[in-house]
Amino acid sequence: MDINMGNGGIGVPVVRRDAMAKVLGVAQYAADFPHENTAYAALTLSKVARGRISRLDTAAAEAVAGVRMVLTHRSLNESLGDETFVMKGGHMQSSFLPLTSDEIHYAGQIVSLTIADTLEAAEEAARLVAIDYAREAASASMDDAGLTEEPADSGIDVGDAEAAFAAAEVKVDATYVTPAQHHNPIELYAASAAWQDGKLLINLPSQWVMGTRAGLAKVFGIPIEDVHVESPYVGGAFGAKASILPHVVLVAMAARRLGRPVKLVVPREAGFTVGSFRPAARSRVRLAATRQGKLTAVMHDEVGQSAVIDHVAFAGMEATSKMYASPNIRMRAATVATDVNSPGFMRAPAEAPSFFGFESAMDELAVALGIDPVELRIMNEPARDPVSGLPWSSRLLVECYRRGAALFGWSDRNPKPGSMVAADGTLIGYGCATATYPSAMAPSSARVRLSADGSCVVYCAAHDVGTGAYTVLGQVAADVLGVPDELVTVEMGHSRHPSGPVSGGSITTGSAGSAVHMAARAVRERLFATVAAGQDRSKMTLADRHVVLPDGSRRAISDIIGGLPGGVIEEHADWKPTDMDDKTMQQGLAGGMAFAGPVGGTHVSFSFGAQFAEVRIDPLLRTIRVARMVGVFACGRIINPRTARSNLMGGMIWGASSALLEESQIDRARGRFANTDLASYHFAANADVGEVVVEMLDEHDSVVNAIGTKAVGEVGIVGMPAAIANAVYHATGVRVRKTPILMEDLL
Ligand code: MOS
Repeated sequence: MDINMGNGGIGVPVVRRDAMAKVLGVAQYAADFPHENTAYAALTLSKVARGRISRLDTAAAEAVAGVRMVLTHRSLNESLGDETFVMKGGHMQSSFLPLTSDEIHYAGQIVSLTIADTLEAAEEAARLVAIDYAREAASASMDDAGLTEEPADSGIDVGDAEAAFAAAEVKVDATYVTPAQHHNPIELYAASAAWQDGKLLINLPSQWVMGTRAGLAKVFGIPIEDVHVESPYVGGAFGAKASILPHVVLVAMAARRLGRPVKLVVPREAGFTVGSFRPAARSRVRLAATRQGKLTAVMHDEVGQSAVIDHVAFAGMEATSKMYASPNIRMRAATVATDVNSPGFMRAPAEAPSFFGFESAMDELAVALGIDPVELRIMNEPARDPVSGLPWSSRLLVECYRRGAALFGWSDRNPKPGSMVAADGTLIGYGCATATYPSAMAPSSARVRLSADGSCVVYCAAHDVGTGAYTVLGQVAADVLGVPDELVTVEMGHSRHPSGPVSGGSITTGSAGSAVHMAARAVRERLFATVAAGQDRSKMTLADRHVVLPDGSRRAISDIIGGLPGGVIEEHADWKPTDMDDKTMQQGLAGGMAFAGPVGGTHVSFSFGAQFAEVRIDPLLRTIRVARMVGVFACGRIINPRTARSNLMGGMIWGASSALLEESQIDRARGRFANTDLASYHFAANADVGEVVVEMLDEHDSVVNAIGTKAVGEVGIVGMPAAIANAVYHATGVRVRKTPILMEDLL
């Protein structure tokens, strides 16, 4: 791709607007914001997983020079506004706020927050907080004995899947297991809070400044306008920063009580329990088909790890039920409550675990049928959503498979397991799997200002979590206004901006981008109306900082806007998804979670991808390497092929990581996560990843929104673990039904 700094607009691989600031170190992350006279906070965490605090002595901690406050359940003693768990319509990452009782619900729970003039004093004091526990038995693993499965209220039923399965000629029935995982964004969780005249200013890494503002206003019982949330740069998020983590509330409370700004940076190890995580899951998949390979029954039973303190369910049935044409579909979900911190959103929360099982089972069916796994999927492509019967807003999955197979060289594959061997004896395996992700949308506002010199500013309280949102939102405005990209500035990540959506569910470009598009078009309309009242505006265009009139004559933007009072044209827009009513839109714009789709009134909208992997396995040691990955995706219109490709590539690498490396191991005797650092929590580094090829099909979706973009971020991870597991089977003949797949699984 050529580097293009000159021309903005949609479809151009513009380099990242924030790149230089990040590379030069001038981009300010949450913990970098200086508040005058800041005090520093440190955490003390529970060493037991369940029970009560039986003795608490803070005298030694309070005696450390420079210590200003030791906040515990005894000293906190303050009633807070009634704000709820994010998955119950609130904004908190957990229903449980530490320091509000002597109860211990999970290992690593915050049991004190120590504040001092220096970080060193705070950390020393945190170590000196003396606590004894009345310990009770705890289960941090959903596999512990005595735990029960709680079925979900609803499932999905089409036809009679049980009967069709019982009568089928060819069938697969297998169970697949995925572990708990932790996000581990490179930027640690942090919060820096300052109060002034009863108003709260808080800096934290956030995927949702508007929701954080609304939630904190409720917690502290103050008007929403009196909370300011600032998060211009986020060093990775992946869902962990989409809701208010409990420590944020505690830091703001401490700052208010102390009458002084307080800053906390959560250390890496503490992040495993102070933040959230992807819960463990188990999928039983039953597939039945005719000898010719037509699916006759698709059944998926998912069990997910939940928490005693919060019910969390991430079944992937909404996506798996839509993958293949089958007259009989049955999907069920259940949860198992465990003694852990509340699980939360983590990149494709439902789809990533459920597709590992589902797409592994499709491969097992292909083997049972003796049909090529790519062809099996194409044979069962549904013309419409098999559940609702609605048409797709767009679905180019077959095209993704055809193109991906060609790019990968799938036709070179000998289907017999263990048959492809390199000259040195290395076993070679090829595998494939389908990826999908719902294309939901949320309401968003935006403001666009065009000045006489052609410069343009876009304002939106959306977020760039490292994905390129600064760049693509500017491109949308540049495209409408015909200005070069270097004249566009984008301001995001502050609650003073026009409302933006949560940066989750891969919705930012489609949602905030649609609002920017709407505001930019309003600016353009005013420009047209100003330059030539009474002329046919539909025949006017904007290019190169000029308005081109119907007769072909050109008028410079500088002349038009220069003559206006204020010397600018500025427009605000409130955008909502097609199927959303005004009330829901207003709730969303006020910081509530308001999603529309992926199933709308007239269409069903998902992004799709076909993913391929080549693994190389040492015949003796059984070490597994991913030599190549190919992903071909159809995600609607791509605003910026450079940033979209990076998102998808990142997802694929994370998928490889998930397949072979990632697992939050649970010390079941002590009921806690055991590998809470980046030395023992393994994930893919450069040497773990070979060639990665990403291609995006030119897809036009006229239904999903005015700019035609569907979800890009999360779809990249979804099919990769199964594609790699299927490749491992192809290389070795060993079917591994759990991740991570380790060398010992192949012995
Ligand atoms: Mo992502 S898990 O939708 O923040």
